[in-house]
Amino acid sequence: MPKITVLPHETLCPQGAVIENAPQGETVLDVLLDHDIEVDHACEKSCACTTCHVVIRKGFDSMEEPTELEEDLLDQAWGLEPESRLSCQAVVADEDLVVEIPKYTINHAREHG
Ligand code: FES
Repeated sequence: MPKITVLPHETLCPQGAVIENAPQGETVLDVLLDHDIEVDHACEKSCACTTCHVVIRKGFDSMEEPTELEEDLLDQAWGLEPESRLSCQAVVADEDLVVEIPKYTINHAREHG
């Protein structure tokens, strides 16, 4: 089973984290939540917000392509990158992943400009 490395995030996981044996078929969001990394998920994982946005620094191509709906939402995410995904829609496949949680969600970005 793949390993997920989470890069340090100021508030959510200041030291970063390494999750061994991440279950294939689960979403990246669920795996992170299971390990007490409380990524926002304002729409309760229904692909209707962007607060669960992450950047997949490694292993992006191992996962199923995002749907058009996900792509449309990502366009509105703070700090969009070519390897951005909505973590509630990105399903762990058979390769190790390196995940970066962006500094802000769209909610914070509004506050901080
Ligand atoms: S939790 Fe809203 S899109 Fe993922």
